[in-house]
Amino acid sequence: MGDDRITLVSGNWKMHENHFEALKLVQELAALLRASGVPEGREVSIHPTFTSLRTVQTAVETDHVPVALGAQTCHYEVRGAFTGEVSAEMLAKLNVAYVLAGHSERRLYCGETDEIVRRKVDAILANGMRAIVCVGESAEQRSSGEAMSVVTAQVASAVGGRDAEVAGAMVIAYEPLWAIGSGQSATVADAQEMCAAIREEVGRLAGAGAAATVRVQYGGSVTPDTAGALLEAPDVDGVLVGGASLDAERFMGIVRAGQ
Ligand code: PGA
Repeated sequence: MGDDRITLVSGNWKMHENHFEALKLVQELAALLRASGVPEGREVSIHPTFTSLRTVQTAVETDHVPVALGAQTCHYEVRGAFTGEVSAEMLAKLNVAYVLAGHSERRLYCGETDEIVRRKVDAILANGMRAIVCVGESAEQRSSGEAMSVVTAQVASAVGGRDAEVAGAMVIAYEPLWAIGSGQSATVADAQEMCAAIREEVGRLAGAGAAATVRVQYGGSVTPDTAGALLEAPDVDGVLVGGASLDAERFMGIVRAGQ
């Protein structure tokens, strides 16, 4: 991680934990954080399902748990006849701070295109929240040598045309599809290479200032054992954690990794 950038460790709970279970998980996390706190220079976000957001928000705010509330997606429209959807404004009213946009599972199963992801980012930013834009290549794209071009095109679509300050406040999560939930993390060298390329692309799109402050996470089978080395890499400013974020002890192992 870079010297001035706050490392962001995010827990993506995906479609796990009903609101009773979510409350238990956040309470377990709160107890561990009470004991040891969040290490200096680090920040934690947790991303429960929509049905658990209000419960987790109340627990976090009542007990002053030092985590930021996150969501997993939102709709790009302000309001309207979009059955089943949740707007960015609705999330902002729950004091959500970070919203994932374009997670590969949503790109794959819900047909989210780069165009839709960009509109979601617009909605997130318009409501005063921070976007965590997820990008990443498939195994086939990596083996055919397209990884870099696929990822930089996704970055360009989400970041291009934004003010330097706005671009520099964004978070981009590099999550190669083959590493998600597979137990096969990218190597530190591969994660570093792509995170550096993403930073360079942000620099090309929005200038050196934005490149210096944009935070780039790595995600895909991160565990307490692998997180320390990943977070040491100069261009890896955090991790986006799925499976290992569902266990408070393991997640805390990642929050504290390398400290
Ligand atoms: P994983 O998921 O840690 O279970 O691989 C990461 C993610 O999809 O955000």
